[in-house]
Amino acid sequence: MMDLFDAVEGEPRDIQLAPGAMLLAGFARPIETPLIESVNAIINRAPFRHLITPGDHRMSVAMTNCGRVGWVSDRTGYRYDAIDPDSGNPWPQMPAVFADLALRAAARAGFADFRPDACLINRYDPGAKLSLHQDKDELDFNAPIVSVSLGLVATFLFGGLNRSDKTARYRLVHGDVVAWGGPSRLAYHGVMPLADGEHPLLGAQRINLTFRKTR
Ligand code: SIN
Ligand code: FE2
Repeated sequence: MMDLFDAVEGEPRDIQLAPGAMLLAGFARPIETPLIESVNAIINRAPFRHLITPGDHRMSVAMTNCGRVGWVSDRTGYRYDAIDPDSGNPWPQMPAVFADLALRAAARAGFADFRPDACLINRYDPGAKLSLHQDKDELDFNAPIVSVSLGLVATFLFGGLNRSDKTARYRLVHGDVVAWGGPSRLAYHGVMPLADGEHPLLGAQRINLTFRKTR
């Protein structure tokens, strides 16, 4: 496993995971406070919930969204929806600090002018995991996916275009950003079960923001 912990505190480092896939270590760190404040404001209006998959499985990761549309799953399938099914209201707007971070991170990773219309917010409690999958419910595969890690350390799996391709493991820490697009846009990825711990700002959890352009 790649160890990013020996990076100099606060010094951003860019690591290429695959063609079109970059890990921007520490990129979000300088704005950790407004990011966390924004997450708290969003979950006040659209609380985290455990979605049910079409296969009737309760996801271990708790999710919510902000932006024009949000990613939802239920027994009928996966989709982007402008309405939060729990409240019947539109999702909270995407905060400027989110949109700006996504735009800057994508540009640094080689994807100019990224304007996401959805941000999926994932909460991992210890033991929660996300099985290997592709992000393919979007209509626009020209735009990258931008993923921001906050809180506890996670082991991120990043593979190829086939589920059976070998995956590499990366340790993602608070403030890290991963962006994948172009030849890596449909790469399989996932998150190993979260190890227990205590993060100084977020306690015993990991929060992940993934920015998508859905159309
Ligand atoms: C995702 O694939 O949607 C989330 C990835 C992560 O939590 O790092
Ligand atoms: Fe994903």
